[in-house]
Amino acid sequence: AVESRTEDLLSRMTLPEKVGQLLMLDAQHGDLVDILSAKLAGSVLHVTPEQMPEAMKMAQRTRLGIPLLTADDAIHGHSFWPGATIFPTQLAMACTWDPALLHRVARASATEIATTGIHGTFSPVLCITRDLRWGRINETFGEDPFLIGELGAAMVRGYQGEGLGDPTAVLAYAKHFAGYSETMGGRDASEADLSPRKLRSWFLPPFEQAARVGCRGFMLGYQSIDGVPITANQWLINDVLKGEWGFTGTLVTDWDNVGRMVYDQRTCADHVEAAAVAVNSGNDLIMATPAFFEGAQEAVARGLIEEKQIDDAVRRVLRLKFELGLFEDPRTPDLERQAQVIGCRTHADLNLETARRSLVLLRNEGILPLEGGLASDGTGRAGGQGTPRTIAVIGPNADSPEAMLGDWAGATGQVPWMPDGHPRETVETVLDGLLAVAPADWTITHARGADVASPAHAPEWSTGPDGQPLPPVFTPAPVDQAQLREAVAAAEAADYAVVVVGDTIALTGETRSTATLDLQGSQIALLDAVAATGTPVIVVLVQSKPSTLPESALNAAALIEAFNPGMRGGRAIAELLLGLVEPSGRLPVSFARHVGQQPVFYNQVRGQHGERYADLTQDPLFAFGEGLTYTTVTYSDLVVHDPDVTADGTINATVRLTNTGSRPALETVQAYISDLTTSVTWAEQELKGFTQVEVPPGESLDVHLGVPAAQCSLVTADNRRVVEPGEFMLRVGPSSRREQQLSAGFRIGT
Ligand code: IFM
Repeated sequence: AVESRTEDLLSRMTLPEKVGQLLMLDAQHGDLVDILSAKLAGSVLHVTPEQMPEAMKMAQRTRLGIPLLTADDAIHGHSFWPGATIFPTQLAMACTWDPALLHRVARASATEIATTGIHGTFSPVLCITRDLRWGRINETFGEDPFLIGELGAAMVRGYQGEGLGDPTAVLAYAKHFAGYSETMGGRDASEADLSPRKLRSWFLPPFEQAARVGCRGFMLGYQSIDGVPITANQWLINDVLKGEWGFTGTLVTDWDNVGRMVYDQRTCADHVEAAAVAVNSGNDLIMATPAFFEGAQEAVARGLIEEKQIDDAVRRVLRLKFELGLFEDPRTPDLERQAQVIGCRTHADLNLETARRSLVLLRNEGILPLEGGLASDGTGRAGGQGTPRTIAVIGPNADSPEAMLGDWAGATGQVPWMPDGHPRETVETVLDGLLAVAPADWTITHARGADVASPAHAPEWSTGPDGQPLPPVFTPAPVDQAQLREAVAAAEAADYAVVVVGDTIALTGETRSTATLDLQGSQIALLDAVAATGTPVIVVLVQSKPSTLPESALNAAALIEAFNPGMRGGRAIAELLLGLVEPSGRLPVSFARHVGQQPVFYNQVRGQHGERYADLTQDPLFAFGEGLTYTTVTYSDLVVHDPDVTADGTINATVRLTNTGSRPALETVQAYISDLTTSVTWAEQELKGFTQVEVPPGESLDVHLGVPAAQCSLVTADNRRVVEPGEFMLRVGPSSRREQQLSAGFRIGT
C-alpha cells in the first residue's frame, strides 16, 4: 500500500511541489510559516517547543495536504527539549560495551522524542575515532568498527522500535556517511585522504550494519574525499549505499552541503549547478539550503537534471512519510504523554544505570572504594563504619552541570530557546552526588581551584578585553592564585581530594577541534598543587574526549574516566568512589601520551619499521578495551573447540575466568582475531566478538565465545571483502593489550 500510495501522490505533484519535498529547512532561519510556505518545504529541523504547534499545521497549507517531516539532533537524549533525559554522550555510552543497554537507551529517548512532534533523530554517529584533536570525538562510539557496528545497530533498533508505524518510534539517521572522521590534523571537515579500499576496510562496515538492520535514514558528512565533495560522491551514495546495500530509506545532506559546494568547496559555479550535482549524485533531502528550491527547478529547465531523478528522491521522502503514518496521524505533540515520559523516573533510573556502567577505572592504588564507604550491597552506610572522613571535591568540573551533559545537550547559552539549559535540579554533578550518597557523618567540602577555558579558544573571545586580537597561538590562562590557594587549603584539610578536571563545550563539537590534547586553563597547575599537599588524590576526568595527562594525574592514587556522563553522572561517580557500584566500563578508544602520537588507534595496519618514535614510545597511555575493576579476574584455559573451520562456520572457544578478589566483577571478555598471513597488509588484530559476564568473588566460570568465520575477513587489493583461507590466531583477554591476552590458533579452510 505504501508503494501505490506513494506513486499515486507523486503522479499528482507539480515540479515545484516535488522540489519542495526535498527541502529540509531550518526552523530558526526566519519566520517558520514564511520560510516553509515560500519554498513548499516538506521537512524541517530544529523546531522549538513553541514553534511545534504551528509546524504541525503546515500540511494544511499545502495543496495536496502532505504532512511535514520533522527532525532534530536528539543525540544522547532529546538534546534541545527542556527537561528531557540527557544520557551520557555516545563516547561515554560506548564505555559500557553493552548493545542491549544502548538499545534500551535509544528506546527511552525515542519515547520522549516521539511525544514532541519530532519524527527523526540525527543519531547514531557511526564515525570512527581517529585523530583525537577532532572536535567530534565525543559523538562517536570510539575507534573500533566492530564495536561501533554493534552499538550503532542496537541504537538504530531502539529508535525505530517495532517499525516506523509504531507511535513511539522515531526515524534514525545514521551519520556521517562516510569517512568524515578521517581528518587532517583533526581539523573539521578537512579533505580526507581515503581510498575506496580504506573506506571499505574500516569506515563503511558500521554503516553497512546499520543499513542491514533497517536504518531508514542516513546523513552525509561535510568533508570531501580525494577531490570529491561528499555530497557529490556517486560511488558512495548510488553504488554502495543504494546499490550494494539496497538502502531504500532517505539520505539527507549535512548542513547546507549543497551551498557549500558553491561558496566553500567551490566545485560548483552556482546553486543551479550544485542542485544538479546533489540530485544526480543521489541525495534525497537537502538540509538547510533554501536556494535549492529555485536551483533545482532551473536545473531541470536547463536539462541538467532529468525529472525522473527528482522523482526518485521524492519517492523516498514520501515513502518515509507513509511509513511513519503521518498522513493518518501527523504525530502532533502529545502534551499528556510528554508529562508522563519526558524526564520521567524510569528514564532517570535507566540514565543512572547507564552512567554507572560507563565509568572506566584506569588506575587504583588500592584507595578505592573509599574506606568507610558503602558496601556493594548498600549495607553499612551512614557512618556506621569506621572514622568519619572529609572529602574535598575540587576542580572546575566538580560542580559543572554543563560538563556532565557535554555537547548536543542544550547547555546554557548554546540554544536560543533554552537559554538556561536544562533545569539545574535535573543534573547531578560530582559534588551533588557525593553530598547525596556519602555517609551522613562525612564532611564534603568544595573548591573550584581552576578554570578550564582559555580565552584563546572560544570564538566569542577572539579579541581580548582591550579589543585587540588575541595571539594566534595558544596562551595558557593565567593561574588564579586565590582560587588555587583555596583548593590547596581544602585538600590539606581533607582525608581525600577528588579532583574533577576535563574540558568544556567551548572546546568540543562541530568546528571546535583542538590543536592540543592538554588539560587547558589552569588545571595542570591545580593538579600539581593538590598532589603536592600529600593528601591522597582521586582524579576524575569529566571531558569530551581523552586528554593527555600530567604526571600529577598519572601518579594520583586513582584515576577515573567519566567522559560526559549525563544527568545522573555525578551520582554514579559518587557511588563508584564509595563502592556502592562496581567499576565495569572499558575504553572504546586509545589514550595518547602526547598529542604527537596522533592517531593512536589499536588496529593499525602492521608492517611499519620499529614500534617507537626516536623520542617517544608509540604505545598508547591507555589502550582500547582497558578498564579496571575492584577485584582481579584472571584468564586461563583458552580452548578453540574445533580449530578447523569452514568459511561459513563459527570459531567456538571457551576461556576460564577466575575472580581472585573479594568483590564481584562484571567482566567484558574480548575476542580479537589475527590473520597470520594476508595478501595485503592488514591490522595485526581486530575485535570480532565480546561478551559480558558477572564473576562472583572467589569463583571460576567458563565463558563461551563464538566468532563467525565470516568476521575474519579483509579487503583485498582489488577492493573485495573476503575471508582468505589459512592460519589465524584467536586472542582473548580483558583488553587489546597483547600482554594481557591468551591466544589459540585455528585454520579456516576453503
Ligand atoms: O546533525 C547535525 C550534524 O551532525 C552536523 N551538522 C548539523 C546537523 C544538524 O544540526
